[in-house]
Amino acid sequence: MQKLEQRKKLKLQPKRKCKLSVNIALTGTPGTGKTSLSSKVEYNTVSINDYYAKISNGKDEEDNWLIDLEKLNETIVTKNHSNTIFEGHVAHFLKNIDKIIVLRCHPDELKKRLSSRNYSDEKVRENMEAEALNIICEEAIDAYDKKNVFEVDTSTMTIEKSVEKIDDIINGNIKSNKRIDYSETIMDWY
Ligand SMILES: Nc1ncnc2c1ncn2[C@@H]1O[C@H](COP(=O)(O)OP(=O)(O)OP(=O)(O)O)[C@@H](O)[C@H]1O
Ligand SMILES: [Mg+2]
Repeated sequence: MQKLEQRKKLKLQPKRKCKLSVNIALTGTPGTGKTSLSSKVEYNTVSINDYYAKISNGKDEEDNWLIDLEKLNETIVTKNHSNTIFEGHVAHFLKNIDKIIVLRCHPDELKKRLSSRNYSDEKVRENMEAEALNIICEEAIDAYDKKNVFEVDTSTMTIEKSVEKIDDIINGNIKSNKRIDYSETIMDWY
């Protein structure tokens, strides 16, 4: 052991601020690609869709789950997870998330994707409107500091390219979080 005088000079290095585990919310309007992409990223994944019955107060007349945000956070406790992607259109309402990735899609492309599902014209339209009005992104920025909210446009990108982009965001290789705004597309609808 070093002499006492020498030991007194020893100082602990300041704690490194490196966070070993990050939890990610992958959110976006239905059809933007959350489920398709989360299955391809090398991270643990929690699909919020699997918990709808547990975290909702029934459904509305259009068959949409009425999600209760308290139940959501009681059921999915992010602190009990590490290196996990929570995917779903309410993922940004989970607590203690490190980064929020909002998937975006041009409303015309979204229309094609949602029409190929069993969705009514009304439901397709509602989702196109939500996307054009940037609703999910604004909710995410309200819930979290905007510097932690990143957007990825999946309209024209391949799934592989989108996966790369998500990896880059998670690994801190993308610092700029450029905002996407589809509100002007609404002008073409009338
Ligand atoms: N770059 C891309 N990234 C993700 N999905 C894409 C991309 N390009 C095309 N797609 C297609 O878009 C569709 C997205 O559907 P998906 O079920 O993943 O959406 P979602 O956001 O999980 O919807 P929901 O909220 O209803 O669960 C898939 O058919 C997928 O193949
Ligand atoms: Mg999905």
